[in-house]
Amino acid sequence: MTGKISASMMCADTLNLLYDIRTLERMGVEYLHMDIMDGCFVPNYTLGTDFVRRVIELARIPVDIHLMVERPEDKLEWFTFAEDDYVSFHYEATCHTHRAIQKIKARGAKAMLALCPATPLYVLEDVAGELDGVLVMTVNPGFAGQKLVEQTLEKVKRVREKYPGIEIEVDGNVSFDNAIKMRAAGADIFVAGSSSIFSGGSLEDNIAKLRDCIV
Ligand code: DX5
Ligand code: ZN
Repeated sequence: MTGKISASMMCADTLNLLYDIRTLERMGVEYLHMDIMDGCFVPNYTLGTDFVRRVIELARIPVDIHLMVERPEDKLEWFTFAEDDYVSFHYEATCHTHRAIQKIKARGAKAMLALCPATPLYVLEDVAGELDGVLVMTVNPGFAGQKLVEQTLEKVKRVREKYPGIEIEVDGNVSFDNAIKMRAAGADIFVAGSSSIFSGGSLEDNIAKLRDCIV
């Protein structure tokens, strides 16, 4: 199966959002990546809950909600999910990983555990069977426009080898060149932000170019 694109909405043109959403739909983009930050788990804020709810209403693309918030299991009521939607949260954000996964599933979404560049793989050991995906952060979470943490490529490879059936998403500095390396390492879903599809120029051309990098 070819790689999937998850468009990073924090990098979209918020003053022209509907135009971008319709273009993403027309181009067959598989997910809309929504970064939710609380200024606590990460030192930043991005998309607000009302904004995300509005996008969910308008868009005909599943969402991929990336929760960078403390105690994510208590924040799921912020959204309504459809069955193809993904929700990811960070291992360090809760002491109840298993409960958080169960709560995401009970709300009707697919569950993904996010690993920061320094988070060891062994945290997957007792929950891998419950997870639909693993989000390998290829930069430290919280900001767009950062540089790839190189050793995360090898981490993608290790997740792929150890858990062949799990979907792997990569997030952070997914440039056209890096996407080729991430794909070779075993990634399935590519968060496309300021390094690729929202790097200026035509959104259509950039999506087509990224597709060629993740076949
Ligand atoms: C953080 C974000 C960023 C960003 C990706 O979780 O998801 O990583 O939107 O876009 P880049 O890294 O290309 O600016
Ligand atoms: Zn993200």
